[in-house]
Amino acid sequence: MMVTGALETPQLWLRVLDETAASGPYLSWMQDAEILRFLEARFGQHTPESLAGFIRSMNDNPDALLLGMFLKEDRRHVGNIKLGPVSREHARGDIGLLIGDKTVWGRGLATEAITALTRYAFETLRLNRLYAGCYGGNDGSVRAFIKAGWAVEARLPRYWRLDDAWVDHIILGLLNPSPAFMSTP
Ligand SMILES: CC(C)(COP(=O)(O)OP(=O)(O)OC[C@H]1O[C@@H](n2cnc3c(N)ncnc32)[C@H](O)[C@@H]1OP(=O)(O)O)[C@@H](O)C(=O)NCCC(=O)NCCS
Repeated sequence: MMVTGALETPQLWLRVLDETAASGPYLSWMQDAEILRFLEARFGQHTPESLAGFIRSMNDNPDALLLGMFLKEDRRHVGNIKLGPVSREHARGDIGLLIGDKTVWGRGLATEAITALTRYAFETLRLNRLYAGCYGGNDGSVRAFIKAGWAVEARLPRYWRLDDAWVDHIILGLLNPSPAFMSTP
């Protein structure tokens, strides 16, 4: 799915990645256990080829949107945020994100990026609802979604294996405050 231009937040530009991003800092994020701690991606092996393939598959998918997060101050690539693949039938989609540059954690970038993509999904794509899943214990992620206006909708107990413990699956969600009227397909 293509966005025309970029989405802007106070500190970031969010724009579609090209495949060259796969050999930049993105690769080192995907090899850092601290960054991947709460992500299923920690079980995979990541190479410039596999990341380029992922970027290509997202860019080729008309129902998905993968955006790089670029700091306005120096244009540095600091993370990625993804919407979808969305369900057209049900007008809903999920958001996931990763800020790979640890030096910019805690500056509100996740909150800004979630806020901007939420707005795009509701106002431009006219989705009815959004959701996101995260590991219990990923307090920064839960907090960023809540600061962006989302709510914890459900908690599935003892869902993930993390280190030597079981943790819950937390489902966050948000409804479009002005849903479009949709006729039954
Ligand atoms: C989790 C993550 C997205 C947070 O990004 P971020 O830009 O640091 O988040 P923000 O700065 O917008 O912070 C939002 C809130 O969470 C808090 N927060 C951030 N990281 C936190 C942490 N590790 N523990 C507790 N609170 C945290 C912030 O203090 C802020 O709350 P406050 O304004 O009340 O103080 C980022 O650390 C990350 O990408 N981690 C690795 C990948 C990952 O876990 N992605 C999410 C998968 S669901």
